[in-house]
Amino acid sequence: MPDLVASIDAGTTSVRFMIFNEFAEVQASHGLEFTQYFDHPGWQDQDAHEIVDKVLECVDQAIKKLEQKGGKASDIKVVGITNQRETTVVWSKTTGKALTRAIAWPDTRTTHTVRQLAEKSDKGTDAVKLETGLPLSTYFAALKLRWMLDNIPEVKKAHDEGDMLFGTVDCWLLYNLTGGEVHLTDASNASRTMFMDLRKQTWDPKLCDFFGIKMEILPEIKSSSEVYGKIKGGALDGVEIAGIVGDQMAALIGQKALSPGEAKNTYGTGAFLLYNTGTKVVDSKNGLLSTIAYKAGPNAEPVYALEGSIAVCGSGIKWLRDQLGLIKEASEVGDLASQVEDSGGIYFVTAFSGLLCPYWDDCASGMIIGMTGYTDKRHFARATIEAACYQTQAVLAACERDSGVPLASLQVDGGMTNSDVAMQIQADILGLTVERPEMRETTALGSALLAGAAKGLFGWDISKPETLSKVNAKGKQAFKPTISEEKRKELLHGWERAVERSRGWLE
Ligand code: G3P
Repeated sequence: MPDLVASIDAGTTSVRFMIFNEFAEVQASHGLEFTQYFDHPGWQDQDAHEIVDKVLECVDQAIKKLEQKGGKASDIKVVGITNQRETTVVWSKTTGKALTRAIAWPDTRTTHTVRQLAEKSDKGTDAVKLETGLPLSTYFAALKLRWMLDNIPEVKKAHDEGDMLFGTVDCWLLYNLTGGEVHLTDASNASRTMFMDLRKQTWDPKLCDFFGIKMEILPEIKSSSEVYGKIKGGALDGVEIAGIVGDQMAALIGQKALSPGEAKNTYGTGAFLLYNTGTKVVDSKNGLLSTIAYKAGPNAEPVYALEGSIAVCGSGIKWLRDQLGLIKEASEVGDLASQVEDSGGIYFVTAFSGLLCPYWDDCASGMIIGMTGYTDKRHFARATIEAACYQTQAVLAACERDSGVPLASLQVDGGMTNSDVAMQIQADILGLTVERPEMRETTALGSALLAGAAKGLFGWDISKPETLSKVNAKGKQAFKPTISEEKRKELLHGWERAVERSRGWLE
């Protein structure tokens, strides 16, 4: 087989290993779900070692599939990593073992920590927004780490005695895959910790002081596209890892939205809309995050994005499946939703982790409103899809207010985009054309592109979009709005009323 590139895509609820050729055609892949621990209301833990084990299993299985198609492991010239961001892992420098379970990004146990820190500053929850682009929120790693230090004696001891390493999931995987030799992260992941100066891409001692952590526990910050180390052991022994990027930024790259003003929305566990702002940081006045999208090499300028993060999307559908037993497979939700013309007047505010962008309310709670005796499970299915679509609309409106430029169309990817019904609902709610690529594994593709570019494979150069013209070039499918502007406004008004009622419930 010709040269191939591969990506480890370590998402919130599942991990995947995908192998691509130079046109981004998937040659083989394998994915596995891993355990989420919901031990208390608002908590969400993960076993960091299980994530590594599942990644290794995916690598083995995907390579077996590649071999069945006549390929071999040595065809894979380089590997990239992309990951759920913010999820916080701490481990012992001596043993390499996790000191406690990882706290996953949607976890809201740190509401009280957020309040305490906000009180320390006259800027309240904007205490570190200027430096980091982020408001104080349960979402980011610094809060999760602070909680661990305050509540888990083993973590505090290791931190104080100099035996602790901190990392997001990219960093943890890289450390494990390289046999514990490499402790680093890329600028996009670092920009979600709250310890990094967004403009300098270096750890900021003032931020470390603010959160009360030692800077020595933090990984080195590198670009998103360079050789970080070699895999030790297994079928890929000796293969270099050369691309690291947070999963939402990866999807922006995989969608080739590489120029200022281009945007994508990924409907995964949560939904995340990223709007490329080029080499300039745009300070949002409308509840969006400013973040590093990627740094395409050690000497490249960082590219920034405005981001609207929606905590619940696919996880809302999983909730219908696992907690309510309303469906057996997540994919059934689209079929159910298509059996009714609308949600029958109900709104489902999926605020299981409070509300993130642009509402920022840690104390909002999940709520379904508008039910009558007429309501049935088909309306629930539709309202669950609509919740992600309404929040996307709110985020996109905030992007347009911040940038002053209306979008012409929205590029979409992620699990929920497999449903035509969901994408039609999204186009209707946005009043905008929604474009879906044929190959939707853009997250995995993004990190593969960064890794391939670092090694000079296939002439790929992330800062020259024309070098990617043959990548994932097959046709896109467009969904155009079909409802009147009046109807759209009426629906949006209903959604905003529902959001208002869910706010502050957990105060
Ligand atoms: O910020 C969290 C995000 O990176 C998680 O992405 O695709 O696992 O929902 P996903």
